[in-house]
Amino acid sequence: MKFSTRAASIEQLRTGCAWLPVTGGKRLTPSGEALDALAGGRISAALASGDLSAKAGATLLLHLDGGVRRALLVSLGDDDEASEKTWNEAIRAAFRAAGTLAADDAVSVLHEAAVAGRGAEWKLRTQVAAGREFAYRFEELKSKRDEQPVRPARVALLVAKAGAARAATEVARATALANGVDLARDLGNLPGNVCTPTYLADAAKKLGREFGMKVDVLAERQMQALKMFSLLSVGKGSDQPPRLIVVHYQGASSRQAPVALVGKGITFDTGGISLKPAAEMDEMKFDMCGAASVLGTLRAVAEMKLKINLVGVIAAAENMPSGKANKPGDIVTSMSGQTIEILNTDAEGRLVLCDALTYVQRFKPRTVVDIATLTGACVIALGHHHSGLFTREDALAAELTDAGREAGDTCWRMPIDDAYQEQLKSPFADIANIGGRAAGSVTAACFLSRFAKGYDWAHLDIAGTAWKSGANKGASGRPVPLLTRFLIGRSEG
Ligand code: BES
Ligand code: MN
Ligand code: ZN
Repeated sequence: MKFSTRAASIEQLRTGCAWLPVTGGKRLTPSGEALDALAGGRISAALASGDLSAKAGATLLLHLDGGVRRALLVSLGDDDEASEKTWNEAIRAAFRAAGTLAADDAVSVLHEAAVAGRGAEWKLRTQVAAGREFAYRFEELKSKRDEQPVRPARVALLVAKAGAARAATEVARATALANGVDLARDLGNLPGNVCTPTYLADAAKKLGREFGMKVDVLAERQMQALKMFSLLSVGKGSDQPPRLIVVHYQGASSRQAPVALVGKGITFDTGGISLKPAAEMDEMKFDMCGAASVLGTLRAVAEMKLKINLVGVIAAAENMPSGKANKPGDIVTSMSGQTIEILNTDAEGRLVLCDALTYVQRFKPRTVVDIATLTGACVIALGHHHSGLFTREDALAAELTDAGREAGDTCWRMPIDDAYQEQLKSPFADIANIGGRAAGSVTAACFLSRFAKGYDWAHLDIAGTAWKSGANKGASGRPVPLLTRFLIGRSEG
């Protein structure tokens, strides 16, 4: 589905379908009124008949003669000003309704409706995001693909001449973001037998070639030289070798300190010797969604050509039980020099991330955000709405929280104070890799905090938000929108 902007008045348009917002089941916006006049009052007559419910997301289709072949009336609820929730329901309904028509293209003026607290650009962006979400398919591995083309193939957003250039930039950025989200979803949806650490490294190299980014892939030998024995210990149990993947995006002066994103890339998490139960274990192919979000964000940032320096680091490994795997009680030495007692081999994400967090110090980043499907406990705490946000820096917390709200990809701050560090005491090593049942997502973050030294740091636990279970099982692409919005805020101009 391709989006564009059109600076024209609706009477001049030729299109298969115009999407018109309606409030209170009968009130049109200026473009709707103009089209109604051109159609001899047929739209207002249909509305007067009461055929369109005032319920947000209700739709009514009218066939017209002239350049605009159809009008899709989309209800935005009773109030003159729609809420964000109402707006989201309405735009999704527009794509669903338009998707069943024979029309190949559409023109939307839905953004003529007012949304409380939101401006023109946000309304354009959310339409692109909703359209691309509607159009997303993952059928690479089906022998018979869905033959139906996604309709409409092209959606033009009608804008005023005055703001046309800004609107076009906004739509281009929203498209770049959607491309990043789609990449993260595709990588997440690939099964563990395809998406291995080596596959992730190849995907990073491909992305690097496409956008002119330098990519370094460290193999086991190089990680041994760096003494990344915690990360390596997780990879040991698998026939798939682990990889540390480093992608450099340079959009600003090389003197400017980069932001670093560190992603958990466990391409399959069986739990290792502390084996997981069989039920729903297939979903542990999504345990690399943190890594996928790093690549998706890099793609979005590179396509937007943001003026910022960004380093993406991915700690990729497969967590398997075998004769070579970690055992409960094993003690490893991390790259930082701290020794770790592995009391549960299923707490492997922190074991690969800790060495990546030490490794990024060499890039002298100002800020580091790690992204990980780290704990089931985070799902218990927050469910599937917000990602868990852990940081000691109030300013960074505010930045990430605001970015999430702006992007419709929210996070919620959790505690990370030293009181919880007690739970990680080990009688045999510097630190244990689990802290008991209480506050599991907090003690996991506290573990990481011991390694995140020398920069401002935040941790996003995306265990509840990176994918959906059930009938619509699949990767969500979160938190690519949050991270990209955060980086737009950090970029100059
Ligand atoms: N990848 C899992 C976390 C997870 C589990 C995410 C279920 C989403 C759904 C992680 O590696 C893990 O297994 N964590 C353990 C930690 C525990 C052993 C302290 C968990 O959450 O049970
Ligand atoms: Mn695990
Ligand atoms: Zn895991």
